[in-house]
Amino acid sequence: MEETIRVLIVDDSEQTRENLRNILSLEKDIQVVGEAGNGQDAVQRTQELHADVVIMDVNMPGVDGIQATERITTDIPDATVVVMSAAGDQEYLRRAMQAGARDYLIKPFTSDEVVTAIKRVYDKGRQRRQREQGVPLRSTPADAKIITLYSPHDGAGKTTVAANLAIAIAMDTGEPVVLVDLNLQFGDLDLVLNLTPERTIVDLVPQFQHLDAGLIEPFLCPHDSGIRLLAAPPRPQFSESVTVYCVQQVLRVLRESYRYIIVDSASTLNDVTLAALDVSDEILLLTTLDVPALRNARISLETMRDLQYETEKIRLIINRATGELGIKADEAEEYLEHPVAARIPSEGRTVVGSVNQGVPFVISNPETKVAEAMHSLARLLAPESSFVYRRAPEPARKGFGMLLRSWAQRA
Ligand SMILES: Nc1ncnc2c1ncn2[C@@H]1O[C@H](COP(=O)(O)OP(=O)(O)OP(=O)(O)O)[C@@H](O)[C@H]1O
Ligand SMILES: [Mg+2]
Repeated sequence: MEETIRVLIVDDSEQTRENLRNILSLEKDIQVVGEAGNGQDAVQRTQELHADVVIMDVNMPGVDGIQATERITTDIPDATVVVMSAAGDQEYLRRAMQAGARDYLIKPFTSDEVVTAIKRVYDKGRQRRQREQGVPLRSTPADAKIITLYSPHDGAGKTTVAANLAIAIAMDTGEPVVLVDLNLQFGDLDLVLNLTPERTIVDLVPQFQHLDAGLIEPFLCPHDSGIRLLAAPPRPQFSESVTVYCVQQVLRVLRESYRYIIVDSASTLNDVTLAALDVSDEILLLTTLDVPALRNARISLETMRDLQYETEKIRLIINRATGELGIKADEAEEYLEHPVAARIPSEGRTVVGSVNQGVPFVISNPETKVAEAMHSLARLLAPESSFVYRRAPEPARKGFGMLLRSWAQRA
């Protein structure tokens, strides 16, 4: 790292401040620009000293670390807070993360842990600011991952999983995530996310040959969770203008600025779906535990083998895995000759309720088993080292009536 990270140390214990100063003095790309012994001074010094990262104790007399974190996050967006706390102060930590802290350290921590946390949040903070300013991120095509949801069966849960998985990954890693709706005729990710996109993939067709990371941004619709959506055309007849070459270009360009590109597809194995599957790093093949779905999943797996996709890139996911119909996951595994990577429970009340409210269930019902399954899947797909925090965004809920009205306006 070429730049120097300006760090402010905030703790009411002189001893802790000194220990931290000693640890950080050994790092040539970190400069301790100041210290504070309480929350009040912390806010003032963060501003005056232009600190990039504030290492803040949560439990201090007067204005505590939580209040100070809240003020810094709101008033000084260029600074990023890492909170420190003694083991057992879980409630404090949870509140500090809600107040906007980007990472936390449990005392006693090692030198490595504190240095890694500072560098990580600094890097993410810089990326976030660049994104907010519409500046394309530094190019990361090699790190980017295209994950496509596919199922030969209509209604297997591709869209449900795509939307909730994308948000789970964004929540858990803090990395930029974009959703691409390649169900070009009847895509409904906008509905599931309660968005009214002004532009869709059709609008960028005339420009796709000159597309770059900056040019594609205005075509993406932001969601309150921080993810973005490249929506499907508003009418099925527009889908024909979206060619295979266009899809390839879009996915190539998105790789330059997004770490995770989650693609929802149609159940037909058409040219566009195949174009996405070809360039995917991971294919999530969704099936339910019933005979017709399993037979189609088997045919799909055989087709993918014929297409010489690496077996490891295909992850078999069982949706609505309740076993109620008598077929068990291990029987499905045996029949499909492919390991089951994940099972998503059937929770109709949560899933359908969340669609009708326009709030994905990882946000509206984070404590449910189906939401937990999304975070486990996120863990399977994103490297453990990238897991930073989990903070539920809170987009405004819309009533069912409003949702239908906004949909009717769009159509
Ligand atoms: N785990 C689950 N538990 C309960 N209901 C679910 C679950 N997953 C999906 N559903 C419901 O199943 C229906 C179909 O889901 P979804 O639209 O995600 O499937 P799809 O594969 O995208 O369908 P299509 O092929 O039409 O695009 C929806 O009503 C959804 O709410
Ligand atoms: Mg769908």
